Amino acid sequence: MKHLKIASLSVIMLMPSVVAAQPATQIYKQHCSTCHSSGIAGAPRKGSKYGWQSRLEAAGSIEQLVVSAKKGRRSMPPKGLCVSCSDTELRAAIEFMMQ
Ligand code: HEC
Repeated sequence: MKHLKIASLSVIMLMPSVVAAQPATQIYKQHCSTCHSSGIAGAPRKGSKYGWQSRLEAAGSIEQLVVSAKKGRRSMPPKGLCVSCSDTELRAAIEFMMQ
C-alpha cells in the first residue's frame, strides 16, 4: 500500500514536465517549417531521407545535430529562433523532420 502511494505521487510530480514539453509537430510548424519545408538556403527538407541521412553522417550522431541546431549553422539561426526550445524539444523536432 505504502509503495503504491509513493508510486502515484511520483507520477503526479512528473506530469508538469510532460505537459510543458511542446509536441514535435507544433515546434516544427511554428519554428522550423518556414525554412525546412521548402529547403530555403539549403536547409534539409522535412521528410528528405537523403538530406537528413547525410547530415546525420556528417555530424556523427543525433546529439551532435542538436548541438549544431542550438548553435546555429551558416543560414540556420541558433535554435531556429525558438529561444524557449529545450534540447529535448529540438531533438524531437529534428526527429520529426527526419521522417
Ligand atoms: C531561418 C531558416 C531556418 C529555420 C527557422 C530553421 N532552420 Fe534549421 N537549417 C536552416 C539551414 C539554411 C540549414 C543548413 C545549414 C547549412 O548550410 O549547413 C539548417 C540546418 C539544420 C540542421 C542540420 C545542422 C547540421 O549540422 O547539419 C538541423 C539539425 C536543423 N537545421 C534543425 C532545425 C530545427 C530543429 C529548427 C526549428 C526549431 C530549425 N532548424 C529552424 C535554416 C533554418
